[in-house]
Amino acid sequence: MARGGYIPARLLCDFLNVENLLSIQSQHWTEAAKVAEKALIKFKYNVDLSGMNALLVDDIVDTGESLILAKNFIIGEWKPNDVKIATLQWISPVAKLKPDFYLIEVKEWYWFQYPWTRLEDTYQFIKRLLSEEGLSKREWTLEEIIAKFKELYGVDVGLNYFKDAADLLVENSFLIRSDNKYLIKS
Ligand code: ADE
Repeated sequence: MARGGYIPARLLCDFLNVENLLSIQSQHWTEAAKVAEKALIKFKYNVDLSGMNALLVDDIVDTGESLILAKNFIIGEWKPNDVKIATLQWISPVAKLKPDFYLIEVKEWYWFQYPWTRLEDTYQFIKRLLSEEGLSKREWTLEEIIAKFKELYGVDVGLNYFKDAADLLVENSFLIRSDNKYLIKS
């Protein structure tokens, strides 16, 4: 599935000698001011998979909502003989679905950091920490952001990712850059 399953799926093509690779984007969205989340298939293109077996690949089964939706869509619209699901992680206590193949059963909910989501995760987590810590401190150096990030999340993603994420926060008008400081926009 796009986007979390892209890289694992391509690697499985290599290891399992599979030529055909399709992508399906099953997304979670939150209606404004509503807690309830719904999954939807973003681009509903049609292909004919009759006579074929499909392996639906994603990085993780968290709630399982988006995979359930994607699986039902594939069965109903693309009509393969069979669909099986493969993921890297399966968060068993919260998942509404058990993948047919998985690498790790996760017993306690956790946010996993994949190499292919590192910049967007760093961006989101910096934004979160500044939204919370920024109530009492409006001006931050990059070094202070990095130190707080490591303290709160216990991860060092490397200077380049921290820099790129901070630049992106400036680009998206969450931060203002002045000299070597970042100012939280009010
Ligand atoms: N995508 C959905 N749930 C996730 C999790 N727990 N960790 C990383 N990526 C996810």
